[in-house]
Amino acid sequence: MPSPVPNPEIKYTKIFIGNEWQDSASGKVFPTYNPATGEKICDVQEADEADVDKAVQAARAAFVLGSPWRRMDASERGRLLGRLADLVERDSAYLATLESLDSGKPFLSALFVDLQATIRTLRYYAGWADKIHGLTIPTDGDYFTFTRNEPIGVCGQIIPWNFPLMMTAWKLAPALSCGNTVVLKPAEQTPLTCLYMGTLIKEAGFPPGVVNILPGYGPTAGAAIASHMGIDKVAFTGSTEVGKLIQEAAGKSNLKRITLELGGKSPNIIFADADLDLAVEQAHQGVFFNSGQCCTAGSRVFVQEPIYEEFVRRSVERAKRRVVGSPFDPTTEQGPQISEKQRSHILDLIHSGISEGAQLECGGKACGLMGFYVEPTVFSNVADDMRIAKEEIFGPVQQIMKFKTIEEVIERANSSDYGLVAAVFTTDLNKAMTVSTAIQAGTVCPSVCTKTTEAIFFPSQKICFKRVNSKKCNCLFVCVFC
Ligand code: NAI
Ligand code: MG
Repeated sequence: MPSPVPNPEIKYTKIFIGNEWQDSASGKVFPTYNPATGEKICDVQEADEADVDKAVQAARAAFVLGSPWRRMDASERGRLLGRLADLVERDSAYLATLESLDSGKPFLSALFVDLQATIRTLRYYAGWADKIHGLTIPTDGDYFTFTRNEPIGVCGQIIPWNFPLMMTAWKLAPALSCGNTVVLKPAEQTPLTCLYMGTLIKEAGFPPGVVNILPGYGPTAGAAIASHMGIDKVAFTGSTEVGKLIQEAAGKSNLKRITLELGGKSPNIIFADADLDLAVEQAHQGVFFNSGQCCTAGSRVFVQEPIYEEFVRRSVERAKRRVVGSPFDPTTEQGPQISEKQRSHILDLIHSGISEGAQLECGGKACGLMGFYVEPTVFSNVADDMRIAKEEIFGPVQQIMKFKTIEEVIERANSSDYGLVAAVFTTDLNKAMTVSTAIQAGTVCPSVCTKTTEAIFFPSQKICFKRVNSKKCNCLFVCVFC
């Protein structure tokens, strides 16, 4: 069993601009905390508008025609990304330890999920670098018309705290593969692994200014990125509220392009013919994974009437068995929430569920541990108009609703402001495809399997297809390409 690095040394707490570590222009620092204990880990340099200006200058200089980055062969860009993947792999035990310390996610989950996804994302986009082709277009007359795909320029990237390192790779890898330069802001709650990537980026051999990393707060550093005239595009993952501010700032400044990956209140539909063991376990993982802090969480579980009572009974039993504890204990399934603020938001929504008349089956309280823990919580008899059925909770709270017919569940699943992901469990392929097509979500994961599986999160037997033009945007797997 792999183990965490004991007492990991934290070397990188400064701003990374032009492949150098710098103090903030203001001289300010901010603390980052261990959410499992509530204790401060260290202070980090706090970037704001002046530092964003400096980083944009470095990124623009690196993007100038004739610069080493612009003259670099596409295959060489791919080689650098591949080298970065190798370096992340080399240091994966250290990075998983740091991720666990700063975000509270279980070490083994950080190692096997976040680190693996980071390495694979970097390798995947390394492969794309020299395979981005244009088209020749048959036009009337004596013309030769073709498209040439070019990098956009300087990309601002603003990421959240739920998958700090993986999100860093999701944002950096496609932008670098296509030859852009980057000004990246990690979330203020979790800057440490992203900063460590700075040293690996330098070691991999990326020219100075290609990647710049600015730890700092949203309303200062983040807002400066969104409204900067020298930034050509912003990719953002986080809350819907801030997504709207980013769009507004882009519109008011230079009409920069944006991609937004925001929230979800995803339906998970369980038909009476589904394999019950599989559906219970997958619905459980689909909500509780990463302490419920996933935009893709299947947080509206619709269960068909004949199996409703039994499904609730088994889900409650499973939630009660969920091991909550220290992120560094290998038996731990669930660590703390990221912050006291997030925990009180979750507890507030749990209270609203109780007062609006949902049945609290288990959990419902903060845990008696140090740090920001919440008990695994299950609600049954949830009505669609309750707050817990409409708002993103982003915590370990499962809502189980009852439905009768396929027409009814399609309509109810679609009546949401969100449209990120959906899942359906049945043994009938026809039903799986009918529902998958009817659900307005960017990605639908139908499971038509009849055997139990050990896969965590989504079943390995899923047929996963994506639709780009979903009614409500927020298409997870599309936006990471941009
Ligand atoms: P947030 O949207 O405030 O933070 C995400 C990122 O945006 C952070 O890097 C933050 O510094 C930055 N940011 C904040 N205000 C900004 C501004 N005015 N301009 C530019 N950047 C700004 O999210 P927060 O407050 O941490 O979490 C609130 C809720 O958002 C959660 O309860 C959850 O519902 C949702 N969320 C969704 C995520 C997802 O994966 N889609 C990830 C994190 C949060
Ligand atoms: Mg922290």
